[in-house]
Amino acid sequence: MAEGALQFLPEHFARSDGAADTEFYASERMVHHLDEPARSALTAFYRRTVPEDARVLDLMSSWVSHLPEDHGCQDVTGLGMNAAELSANSQLTAHVVHDLNAKPVLPFDDQSFDACLIALSVQYLTRPLDVFGDISRVLRPEGVCIVSFSNRCFPTKAVAVWRALDDPGHIGLVATYFRQTNGFDEPFYEDLSPGERSDPIFVVWAKAL
Ligand SMILES: C[S@@+](CC[C@H](N)C(=O)[O-])C[C@H]1O[C@@H](n2cnc3c(N)ncnc32)[C@H](O)[C@@H]1O
Repeated sequence: MAEGALQFLPEHFARSDGAADTEFYASERMVHHLDEPARSALTAFYRRTVPEDARVLDLMSSWVSHLPEDHGCQDVTGLGMNAAELSANSQLTAHVVHDLNAKPVLPFDDQSFDACLIALSVQYLTRPLDVFGDISRVLRPEGVCIVSFSNRCFPTKAVAVWRALDDPGHIGLVATYFRQTNGFDEPFYEDLSPGERSDPIFVVWAKAL
């Protein structure tokens, strides 16, 4: 992956809907944001990268976490914006409603997770470097953070820098978040897209130092 030389400015994280996220996410959305083949590809990726006995943090979670149904992880804590969506998620063992754009500090102890997942949501973070920095705090050393995304989003809530980039640009942007945080080893990426007839799906992941 090319070294990202982006110098972030406040306007990179502007959004056309600047209202508080609590308004946008007040009503529940029990919908899939990705088609079935792409969801299966993400689940298969989790099967090979999330350790069997992991304590998992599903950040920006909703009613689905995409983990394999038979995954042996110890527990899965969800953090998101809508209590009804989180309560409906059968893979979560605990959850918390928390606005990361209002408060980019995770309400968890240091080194309390082995894996952190951010699925289809990183484009909504207005303070990604703060959030990624705090993810490295709550992960144990060598714990993995896996960020997945497609080419779909709520455009009014996605940050300007995301909307200005294409798929390769998004891969580079997420890699830059990891690199500028300084709490992670060099990131990797993979294109998991099942084919032309399906939604694309990409992952960028890195291990905490
Ligand atoms: C497109 S959905 C993806 C949900 C889920 N991760 C999935 O894979 O289906 C975006 C998610 O980001 C979460 N989210 C958006 N803004 C947030 C914020 N400011 N703080 C925390 N979570 C947020 C919402 O709660 C919502 O569940």
